[in-house]
Amino acid sequence: MKRFHVTTFGCQMNEHDSERMKGMLESLGYAEADAREEADLILFNTCSIREKADERFVSHLYEARALKRRDPERVIGVGGCWAQSVKDQVFRDYPFVDVAFGPGQVHKLAEFLTSDSLTAQGFFEFEGFTGHLPGKRARDVHAWVQISAGCNMKCSYCIVPSTRGREVSRPFEELVAEVRQLASEGVREVTLLGQNVNSYGTRLRPQPRKFSELLHAVDAIDGIERVRYTSPHPAHMTEDVIRAHAELPSVCQHIHLPLQAGSSRVLKRMRRTYGRDRFLDRVALIREHVPDCAITTDIIVGFPGETEADFVETLEVVEEVGFDGAFTFIYSPRRDTEAAEFVDEFVPHEVQVERMERLVEAVQRRARERAQRFVGRTLDVLVEGPSRYDPTRLRGRTTHNKVVNFDGLGAAGEIVPVEILSATSQSLSGTESLLSRVA
Ligand code: 5AD
Ligand code: SF4
Repeated sequence: MKRFHVTTFGCQMNEHDSERMKGMLESLGYAEADAREEADLILFNTCSIREKADERFVSHLYEARALKRRDPERVIGVGGCWAQSVKDQVFRDYPFVDVAFGPGQVHKLAEFLTSDSLTAQGFFEFEGFTGHLPGKRARDVHAWVQISAGCNMKCSYCIVPSTRGREVSRPFEELVAEVRQLASEGVREVTLLGQNVNSYGTRLRPQPRKFSELLHAVDAIDGIERVRYTSPHPAHMTEDVIRAHAELPSVCQHIHLPLQAGSSRVLKRMRRTYGRDRFLDRVALIREHVPDCAITTDIIVGFPGETEADFVETLEVVEEVGFDGAFTFIYSPRRDTEAAEFVDEFVPHEVQVERMERLVEAVQRRARERAQRFVGRTLDVLVEGPSRYDPTRLRGRTTHNKVVNFDGLGAAGEIVPVEILSATSQSLSGTESLLSRVA
């Protein structure tokens, strides 16, 4: 039996596509290998969001080349955003690659593997969603559901519109049927995925749909206890979406709302289509409807032309909002993006690093402070399995998407009450309330 190995880089959309790849390969009769050197088919699902992502991936690719030198029958495949961004150039620069394909083109990999072709091939035209392909879920009780592909925004730093193309939404009924099917297989939590997830449906024909309608329909499905989504755009964060978090029991008390920068001037140059006030107004609306909602964010420092005063505005927003967590990034110029041309205004690397340190300090301090509100409370935790640090303990997540390490008896997939005893910026610690088991 032939064996495959997949390495996944990048976002949740790639994790989703990798699960489809694995499911599809198993249906073609392949088995998963534990290590790359044991595989006949070595696959990479790549990301191109920042330069570091590219560099990291290329070193893995050279490792695969070394393995192929030892056994030339091995097939090397490269999928995802990096592959899309370099297209056929991949075969010129990395002639040992056998097959390359763009994001979501998992079915093309099957076509290649089942054809008699021995020549390298690339597939870079988006043709459809992978939702109908068999999946192999990393966690039995959780599933990714891709609701749209591509992005119509023009954020000046972002490579995604060029790698993932124009936005396309999947039909509403198809998604509801897919989630119903997942629920019947035992899935309890779904994460709806899209590059601009909350702009879902506006261009569907004959009947346009709203993202909040989809949240209502998914919430109504028996067996689905938690619904998450990522990533929304603040400009499309309408009141009906925010209210869904308050009104629908399964929609989690967590919103990931990418800020990117706190200065309206920088936001404008990023082409984010909202300013600082609009962002703060969205946060206020969330807190009004869903007071306990966790809010997390993404922030870029050192965008071209960012002054000290602009950066201080980002710090101010961080202080004012008090995010429950944030992913922070140093600006990295990407090919074929507008901001990559602002060369004259690039912020020196030392300045970027210094701002990053100040940002991380503020983010972590505020997250730690925010997390204290959970101490002393008993929260429902969806058990994921043993704790990563201490296998005698368990690990799970609250509706706020906070990781909890705890002592208890819960099995993976169960939702158990956990008394929270302490909190850091990153995670909570507690013990399962065993009283619930006596009753
Ligand atoms: N440089 C730095 N960070 C970036 N991101 C996207 N593009 C870039 C870039 N060129 C960040 C944004 C986005 C997250 C996924 O990655 O914050 O929300
Ligand atoms: Fe990376 Fe963006 Fe592509 Fe996801 S969509 S894999 S984050 S470049």
